[in-house]
Amino acid sequence: MLIRIPRRGDPKQSEITPERVYRARRDILKGSGALAALAAIRTNALPSDWIDSKGYAKHEPAPDLEITPSPYTTQYNNFYEFGTDKDDPMRHADAMTIDPWSIEVTGLVAKPGKYAIEDVLAGIDLEERIYRLRCVEAWSAVIPWVGFPIKKVLDKYEPLASAKYVKFTTYLNEDEMRGTRSFFSSIDFPYIEGLRLDEAYHDLAIFAVGMYGDELLNQNGAPFRLVVPWKYGFKSIKSIVKIELMERQPPTTWNNSAPQEYGFYSNVNPEVDHPRWSQASERVLGSGLFARNQPTLMFNGYADQVASMYEGMNLRRNY
Ligand code: MTE
Repeated sequence: MLIRIPRRGDPKQSEITPERVYRARRDILKGSGALAALAAIRTNALPSDWIDSKGYAKHEPAPDLEITPSPYTTQYNNFYEFGTDKDDPMRHADAMTIDPWSIEVTGLVAKPGKYAIEDVLAGIDLEERIYRLRCVEAWSAVIPWVGFPIKKVLDKYEPLASAKYVKFTTYLNEDEMRGTRSFFSSIDFPYIEGLRLDEAYHDLAIFAVGMYGDELLNQNGAPFRLVVPWKYGFKSIKSIVKIELMERQPPTTWNNSAPQEYGFYSNVNPEVDHPRWSQASERVLGSGLFARNQPTLMFNGYADQVASMYEGMNLRRNY
């Protein structure tokens, strides 16, 4: 586990977020002990049982990952609810009310209900996970997320044996989300995504509540988002308000919008191009004026950990 202290040059969240929003966010995390864990990341004073205290496997990130400076990943975003330009989320997402925040857990679970985020996070230890993020638009970044495996939340609400998939839904409020009022949007709202249950139970698949050792900014999907590092970024749905366990494969936003272009699986695959973007290589965010291009790796570099889940599957057809 790599523990990273934010660099001196990184903008502090309090510098770029209105005080009111910043405080509200801290309150959300307070109840769960999550703030203490974030503080521990900063001071590196981690209790010895902090990671893996529930018996989950440790994550060892590749040592060669160079973290993308935070201005690039907090000012160049996709969050269509706030507009389609890359700086729209940064400019408009603070209009989203994230306190109070609750998450409905529904469908094939023994303990369905609408839970306050404090209850969802209660008793869950946070970890820092440094992951590559590869967008289907052929840019990439390396982000130090603060979060925990999805399975820790799913286990709490006890999926039934009949559950085979999990569907996630983003918050929707037309007053606060200017992009959802546009007649020209290429997608429908609310934004929805899904995973097969074994994918959701994979140790690399996390819910994130922070990045760079601090709480998530709204433009990055505060207060609670998905991060699935071996899939294209659009699977990593932001600002989740609903988790539904299902027997059948759920519909997903981009697949609904353009099924020829976006499949359900959306595993990063340099051999299968998108009609508009070659997937063979990627532009690395923050690598300077003449941005560095690097080859894209199968499953975004996580093949050793995840390829076995897709054994025998035709990945060209199941894109
Ligand atoms: N989630 C919602 N609700 N709405 C979106 O438009 N965009 C996706 C994903 N999650 C999106 C979303 C896409 S296309 C990408 S690449 C990632 O978020 C980007 O995450 P980031 O802005 O934190 O880098």
